[in-house]
Amino acid sequence: MLIKSSNNNRISENEVTDPNVYHSRRDILKKLGFLGAGTLLSTNAQANPFGWFSKKDSVQFETTPLDFENSSIKLNEPVQKLTEQGVATSYNNFYEFGTSKSAPKEKGQELTVNPWLLEIGGLVENPITLNYEDLLKRFTLEERIYRLRCVEAWSMVIPWIGFELSNILKEAKPLGSAKYVSFQTLYRPEQMPGQNSRFLGGGIDYPYVEGLRLDEAMHPLTLLSVGMYGETLPPQNGAPVRLVLPWKYGFKSIKSLVKIELTEKEPPTTWNILAANEYGFYANVNPNVDHPRWSQARERRIMGSGLNSHKRIDTQMFNGYDEVASMYSNMDLTRYY
Ligand code: MTE
Repeated sequence: MLIKSSNNNRISENEVTDPNVYHSRRDILKKLGFLGAGTLLSTNAQANPFGWFSKKDSVQFETTPLDFENSSIKLNEPVQKLTEQGVATSYNNFYEFGTSKSAPKEKGQELTVNPWLLEIGGLVENPITLNYEDLLKRFTLEERIYRLRCVEAWSMVIPWIGFELSNILKEAKPLGSAKYVSFQTLYRPEQMPGQNSRFLGGGIDYPYVEGLRLDEAMHPLTLLSVGMYGETLPPQNGAPVRLVLPWKYGFKSIKSLVKIELTEKEPPTTWNILAANEYGFYANVNPNVDHPRWSQARERRIMGSGLNSHKRIDTQMFNGYDEVASMYSNMDLTRYY
């Protein structure tokens, strides 16, 4: 997150909106038998259909095609050109594995995700613990194509698979005193080398923590994701379960979740602890409020790895998800950045 981004170079935006991209991909997956396969294999049980990891013999982790055939597919926006899967899964921020963009994929493959427990507790009537199978089976999965805008001024378009966080929160029944929701990533230094060293892990005090106001957590756009591109999440993208908040800077979308807790007070958040003047609690995408060290007015849309697969485009307020605006109507967003 310490990268500088130039914001000149005003190439005109030419976002390709092509519904066929998305639908044809689903058709291909279907023809190949990857959809509706009813799979719940162990993480090693089946070869990755796209073979992303095939170059490395040492790789332990393989994703599994997800069964979301019967789900209602909701698209919240006109389908934009998707970022290539190979790019979205190899250019990552996941400091638990190191601070470079390539480290999460290089160092993350031995993360074990089954068994896994995600606890939902704190100020709730009905605490819940979900195991690995619950995460994939208990809620109806749907695919959502969202823009992801990193605070470093790059962005991608990613087809996530998951379910609304509100589904779990409603089951857990928040008490009247609950005003916020805190989130915590796995702490497992033996598999996450960045947690072993302040140098490798970017100076963060682990575990990585995040937070939302309760109304933000209950918002229909707020997704708990268990997959992307039709498969379970690879470690570098936050296996086996992560948050996805498309109207906020990417650092709010906390990965590899083990704990969700309802609280009365605003919970501490990792990047805010590290540099409060640079990273706020809200972190809504806002082209009018610059990062102290770079502009947020524009972004680099990453679609692929080729020469013409990056474009400079204008950043939109709330990353274009206007439906969230009413949650902040009484707030000065230059103060609550
Ligand atoms: N979650 C944890 N636990 N650790 C991290 O370092 N990085 C965040 C977020 N979630 C991060 C994290 C940042 S800065 C971004 S931009 C997104 O993850 C990147 O998600 P992606 O790698 O799936 O694109």
